[in-house]
Amino acid sequence: MQSHAWWQRGVIYQVYPRSFQDSNGDGIGDLEGVRRRLDYLVRLGVDAIWLSPIFPSPMADFGYDIADYCGVDPIFGTLEDFDRLIGEAHARGLKLILDFVPNHTSEAHPWFAESRSSRSSPKRDWYIWRDPAPDGGPPNNWISNFGGSAWSFDEASGQYYHHAFLEQQPDLNWRNPELRAAMADVMRFWLERGVDGFRVDVIWHLIKDAQFRDNPPNPAFGPGQPDINRLLQVHSADQDEVLDVIREMRAVVDGYEDRVLIGEIYLPVERLVAYYGPGLSGVHLPFNFQLILAPWSARAIGRLIDEYERALPPGGWPNWVLGNHDQKRIATRVGAAQARVAAMLLLTLRGTLTIYYGDEIGLADVPVPHELAQDPWERNEPGHGRDPARTPMPWDDSPTGGFTSGRPWLPLNDTTTLNVAAQEADPRSMLALHRALLALRRAHPALAIGGYQGDRTEGDVLVFRRRSADEELLVALNFGPSPVEIPHPGAGAETLLSTHLDRSGPEPAGPLRLRGDEGVVFRLGGELQAARA
Ligand code: NOJ
Repeated sequence: MQSHAWWQRGVIYQVYPRSFQDSNGDGIGDLEGVRRRLDYLVRLGVDAIWLSPIFPSPMADFGYDIADYCGVDPIFGTLEDFDRLIGEAHARGLKLILDFVPNHTSEAHPWFAESRSSRSSPKRDWYIWRDPAPDGGPPNNWISNFGGSAWSFDEASGQYYHHAFLEQQPDLNWRNPELRAAMADVMRFWLERGVDGFRVDVIWHLIKDAQFRDNPPNPAFGPGQPDINRLLQVHSADQDEVLDVIREMRAVVDGYEDRVLIGEIYLPVERLVAYYGPGLSGVHLPFNFQLILAPWSARAIGRLIDEYERALPPGGWPNWVLGNHDQKRIATRVGAAQARVAAMLLLTLRGTLTIYYGDEIGLADVPVPHELAQDPWERNEPGHGRDPARTPMPWDDSPTGGFTSGRPWLPLNDTTTLNVAAQEADPRSMLALHRALLALRRAHPALAIGGYQGDRTEGDVLVFRRRSADEELLVALNFGPSPVEIPHPGAGAETLLSTHLDRSGPEPAGPLRLRGDEGVVFRLGGELQAARA
């Protein structure tokens, strides 16, 4: 196992700090709250925490609009709180990954104030300013990810600035070398403080077409889709030159021992893998969101795993993400029973895995009425809001779930039916399943660092193998509600773990039976195991 870096062996747990644990009664989670829950994460068995943004921010996009890259927002605490958190995380063997948001700042960032102050400002070129089109309208047809034009007009200086997200989130100009140097300093600031890496927000957006050409229409656009889908993002993102920028970021990170660079990238597989960079000079891990985006069927998932494994460049380390703060939760996407199968799938796949807080207890989306919406996207485009997947962690069965003594910033689920304390007391709970899966992964190099081989996909069943030098495991997952049988994998096979947490030991001859919505990890008998004995 030592042949692999921690981030290859490890499992990442995403904390959305506003919703994890409040320590001061203001209804919003904070760093001290995260610190108090470190032992929970150790018991769960994850290796690293990724914290969504904690930096000073007007919170127009809940921290993804940063006004100071080198501080901590008072809502979350202080730099001292951060130092304490990272110190205590490290003391427990947990790594800490920060969110780095380099594509845009907040409009409240002093850089933007300076940039917008006049056309001749030395920082004018740190952002993306363009003259109006001949009719006085925006310079091109690009759309904001939150709907409407991606350009806002600045009356005082008579130009438009570009924003791929809210108008309060002006895009930075990564073609400017001074900006690049300033951002490298930001990374060093946190690396020096001991952070173990960065998850880089919308990294494929950093460079835009040099000529700012219009994006073409999307022929697949249809009712119910968000405005951004009207056009194909051909010119506003995923430009080849972005790999040069990423190579520079990677060099900064590589200046420190044992750090990881992860890129948030929503692109089809063939483009996604380009972000490993020429000669693996890009991000260590281009986030792979296919489990979030694909239809939930054995066939679709089996095919995408094979395609992904085939598409990886030599030496490129895979990764899988099952949920995050921008997507519907897995329990909502596939239902409670299949969420257990999904957990087993995620935690038995090859590569670095990311779990979204709350998914380990099967938390589902919590409806948030439009009038109470916090997410700016929901306010711009009703129905697309992300609040339901960002609700506070229910630690116990009290009305505010032990999350806060105050009024929570978003409503909680029905804490009487779903909370951490109840699941800690239940040996068959979703939490118990996660602990068992994470322990299994830790104990079996075949799972943590072994090879992957697809075995069979038949009807609702997906079967694959994981193999290390001295062990071979078979993972069989039933994506449907009815029982199924698969051929016995040979003498000596034994069950290591079932999603139902009620089965283990040698498997008698005859077909292996899986109940509806059941996944099982088997250890195969035979030569490998014999050689080991
Ligand atoms: C991606 C983040 O995950 C999302 O929450 C945010 O709104 C956008 N980037 C803009 O930063």
